[in-house]
Amino acid sequence: MEKKSFNIAVFAGDGVGTEIMQESLKILKLIAEKTKVRLVLSAGYIGGAAYDRFGEPLPGQSLEMALQSDAVLLGAVGGPKWEALEYKFRPERALLGLREKLGLYANLRPVVVFEELLDASPLKKEVVRGIDIMIVRELTGDVYFGQPRGVTIEKNGKRKGTNTMVYTEEEISRIAVCAFEIARKRKKNLLSVDKANVLECTELWRNVVSEIGCAYPDVTLKHMYVDNCAMQLIRNPAQFDVIVTTNLFGDILSDEAAMLTGSIGMLPSASMGKDKALYEPIHGSAPDIAGKNIANPLATILSVALLLRYTMAMPQEAELVEKAVAEVLKDGYRTQDIFQEGKLLVGTAEMGDQTLKKLTGLLN
Ligand code: IPM
Ligand code: MG
Repeated sequence: MEKKSFNIAVFAGDGVGTEIMQESLKILKLIAEKTKVRLVLSAGYIGGAAYDRFGEPLPGQSLEMALQSDAVLLGAVGGPKWEALEYKFRPERALLGLREKLGLYANLRPVVVFEELLDASPLKKEVVRGIDIMIVRELTGDVYFGQPRGVTIEKNGKRKGTNTMVYTEEEISRIAVCAFEIARKRKKNLLSVDKANVLECTELWRNVVSEIGCAYPDVTLKHMYVDNCAMQLIRNPAQFDVIVTTNLFGDILSDEAAMLTGSIGMLPSASMGKDKALYEPIHGSAPDIAGKNIANPLATILSVALLLRYTMAMPQEAELVEKAVAEVLKDGYRTQDIFQEGKLLVGTAEMGDQTLKKLTGLLN
């Protein structure tokens, strides 16, 4: 029987997190109401907001809430206020802790250009038109988690910083399987990105991805060095279908790819584990514009679409949310980050309301 009740842990986090979360929850609640799906939402603190209240970025009760949920919906964490804190108290640790504790090893970052925003991209229209890339970023390995790490004092009294890039065969094969499965449902082109000419760790990555590829003869697998990929994303982004890469390379390439779409304020993401998932916009907490009702809520609203698609198994409703966003853009509504002459400048809340209105129409 189809599941009709979902526990969602909601962490707005810091900066613009609260504002964008408010808008996306309106969308989620409307869908639940119209489709008679029962949503149990529990809100908790993470990041700087949690540090201020509880002295730690990922308090036990928030982690427990996440572990008990079917999925987590997250805003953003971080801000200058907490930058000087000792590493383990920084807001970003909450995000990394959730990824680790929930086993969220696959980060999916779809990069799609809305026709209406072609002019907002810093690249020429002809270059970005029609791009539809899925970045599959490994999320629980690499230098992000590798040991040893830290800053130590050498015998000569000077400091030494260490981080370790490490991948086991199992970690590589499970993300490769995930990427091949996704490629199979798309245009069947998978590009694995590494730095195998210099780093042994990613030479292993390349070999394991190729070995997994034997089980997917219908998917065309290619390999590319990360520096070349960074260049090709600007030179000819339309060549890409699915990109699978390591944690750090994926972090960097996905920010670069986001700009192709005109604004990082447009891109959602899904982080998947074996039986858990977390949905969040790929942008940060943007403390400079927090509390001013100018942040773009669309990346978080589009993250709700991913939540509907992957956790709640409601692909039709997911598409309707995406369609509502496309139509709001077609009507000319723009937040500041994607604003152009002749369009209607709106704030966070109005952008959310317009999307809600469109969605209401589409659901009736
Ligand atoms: C991301 C972010 C995070 C990361 C930070 C906030 C820890 O940049 O999700 O891309 O580096 O993974
Ligand atoms: Mg990043």
